[in-house]
Amino acid sequence: MRIFALLMATVLLLTVAVSNVRGQDSEYSRKGADTCLSCHDNATTLAIFKTKHAVPSDARGPFGHGQLQCEACHGPGDSHAGRVRRGAERPAIFAFHPGSVASIEAQNGMCLDCHSNDVGFGWHNGAHPSDELACSDCHTSHAAVDAVQQVATQVEVCGNCHQRQRNDTLKAFGHPLFDDKMTCTGCHSTHADDASNIMARQTLNDTCVDCHAEKRGPFLWEHAPVSEDCGLCHAAHGSNHSGMLTKRAPLLCQGCHAQAGHPSIAYGTDGLASDLPSQYLLGQSCMNCHSQVHGSNHLSGSKLMR
Ligand code: HEC
Ligand code: HEC
Ligand code: HEC
Ligand code: HEC
Ligand code: HEC
Ligand code: HEC
Ligand code: HEC
Ligand code: HEC
Ligand code: HEC
Ligand code: HEC
Repeated sequence: MRIFALLMATVLLLTVAVSNVRGQDSEYSRKGADTCLSCHDNATTLAIFKTKHAVPSDARGPFGHGQLQCEACHGPGDSHAGRVRRGAERPAIFAFHPGSVASIEAQNGMCLDCHSNDVGFGWHNGAHPSDELACSDCHTSHAAVDAVQQVATQVEVCGNCHQRQRNDTLKAFGHPLFDDKMTCTGCHSTHADDASNIMARQTLNDTCVDCHAEKRGPFLWEHAPVSEDCGLCHAAHGSNHSGMLTKRAPLLCQGCHAQAGHPSIAYGTDGLASDLPSQYLLGQSCMNCHSQVHGSNHLSGSKLMR
């Protein structure tokens, strides 16, 4: 009997806490999803039954045995689902959009109740600040497939907010983001637990050489900027210069290397070669001779020439 009383008190406390925080219903509906579906039976809402959230045999999921079904995410909805006097407003329920009665933090908290292990404890400090971005800005819960997790559609989801990066990927030379080969998350960690590390691997270079292993080194003859930061020469989101270079050679190279020593005449201001283009600048330009710009393992590969 005493245990029962204790239990009731806890339940009461919890409900009060819930209703205070969320400013809405305090009771769960008695029949769960059946109640909700008596009004919300459109195709979009029903699509949740095609997702991993609706696997009845998964006890951890919202529709697992003993779980709260719709209300595992939408919170208690007894009075929202109940009868409403004519002219009166239907009590609000916890929802996932900007006009919702729930703050973004509370919305995320609802998902994190089950997903703190997937998303990580550092969500609060991440690249995507927890008070600005909701899980549902990227994830769609009422859809058979979650667009942000699909190679073919992820770029559009991210591009909704990151238009500059999306547009860059359409430039002449870029990563194959639009032909189902790669995603933004091939390079980025979206659940990053630290805003200073937005890359999928420990460092920027680690991320690049994950796929471009032949650039990893170590080389007998290193080219200092390569092991430092691929981004010194490459625009990872895309570029109009071949090889996704930030600038074309020789300008690229001459950003760091003095022209003295080589009779290298840079491009004129009109971007065309000057009247007497030197052999140093034709075709592959500096790479005519310094072909191993990422480093060389050849015994006589000093000056990055073979
Ligand atoms: C008697 C009909 C009825 C039942 C039962 C019902 N709802 Fe609703 N619900 C509505 C109506 C009408 C609206 C739209 C009007 C509004 O926003 O108040 C709505 C709106 C919503 C919204 C959007 C809220 C927003 O802020 O945009 C959600 C989410 C929702 N219902 C979930 C549920 C869940 C979960 C249940 C079961 C616990 C449920 N509803 C039961 C009628 C119902
Ligand atoms: C895994 C958590 C989760 C579960 C379980 C869930 N929903 Fe939702 N619901 C959401 C999210 C998130 C949204 C926002 C749109 C989206 O992501 O698809 C939403 C949107 C809605 C909307 C549209 C409200 C709007 O924003 O216009 C309704 C209605 C709704 N849900 C009803 C239900 C009903 C009924 C059930 C049970 C059959 C249910 N939901 C189960 C997370 C959930
Ligand atoms: C009651 C616990 C619970 C809640 C609340 C919950 N989830 Fe889940 N979620 C699960 C389980 C269980 C799975 C299945 C995991 C698996 O199969 O490995 C899952 C799977 C997922 C997946 C992966 C689905 C896939 O197709 O790969 C995403 C994304 C996700 N949840 C997002 C959310 C979001 C966003 C919310 C809040 C709107 C939410 N979840 C709320 C338990 C929950
Ligand atoms: C900026 C977009 C974005 C936001 C915001 C976001 N996610 Fe994700 N999430 C993704 C992507 C993309 C994936 C696919 C995995 C990948 O490619 O890294 C994913 C995967 C998942 C998965 C599948 C398991 C896994 O870790 O691979 C779960 C669960 C999940 N997210 C939950 C959440 C929850 C909970 C929140 C809110 C606290 C959230 N996500 C916020 C983009 C996002
Ligand atoms: C709803 C809008 C929204 C969506 C969708 C979104 N982001 Fe973001 N993203 C933001 C905001 C806001 C920031 C915070 C920094 C800022 O203001 O630029 C951010 C920051 C980032 C950063 C770190 C930038 C920095 O300067 O530190 C990266 C990387 C990033 N997002 C990648 C992604 C990827 C990849 C996706 C898709 C999986 C995605 N984002 C989806 C809004 C969004
Ligand atoms: C080939 C790897 C790669 C891919 C794919 C990629 N990024 Fe990036 N992204 C980077 C690098 C490298 C940076 C610079 C990070 C740094 O300087 O620390 C960056 C930076 C960012 C930033 C921060 C602002 C900026 O431009 O410096 C955002 C936002 C971003 N990326 C979003 C995206 C989105 C959205 C996509 C998908 C359309 C995407 N990225 C695809 C490598 C990539
Ligand atoms: C997830 C794998 C992956 C990651 C991570 C990755 N790349 Fe790539 N990269 C590719 C693929 C795939 C191609 C296209 C290869 C092809 O078309 O043959 C490519 C092509 C390139 C090219 C040649 C483009 C051209 O037009 O010739 C450059 C340069 C490049 N990547 C640089 C980088 C840099 C720098 C990074 C790190 C910021 C990076 N990549 C990260 C997969 C990746
Ligand atoms: C000093 C400038 C510089 C740095 C730093 C640099 N690259 Fe390059 N990269 C180039 C040049 C120049 C080309 C040749 C472009 C062309 O073919 O037009 C190139 C081409 C590439 C290519 C495509 C052709 C090939 O050789 O496979 C890839 C992939 C590539 N770089 C990856 C990387 C990665 C990964 C890093 C960091 C570990 C990196 N680069 C650092 C200058 C640089
Ligand atoms: C971000 C600056 C930077 C850029 C851009 C750059 N380099 Fe370098 N390069 C260096 C540094 C630093 C060294 C090492 C100098 C030293 O050890 O004295 C170096 C060394 C070299 C060497 C001499 C190697 C040796 O063994 O002595 C050659 C050749 C070279 N770079 C060619 C190029 C070419 C060609 C390009 C354009 C594709 C280029 N560099 C772009 C910074 C750069
Ligand atoms: C026709 C072949 C050729 C071309 C084209 C060429 N170089 Fe060289 N470069 C050489 C040779 C040969 C050496 C070695 C000179 C020596 O050891 O005295 C060298 C040496 C260097 C060095 C090492 C430092 C030094 O002066 O010894 C740098 C840096 C360098 N080149 C940068 C460049 C840049 C930048 C370009 C493009 C503007 C370029 N090279 C174009 C042949 C070439």
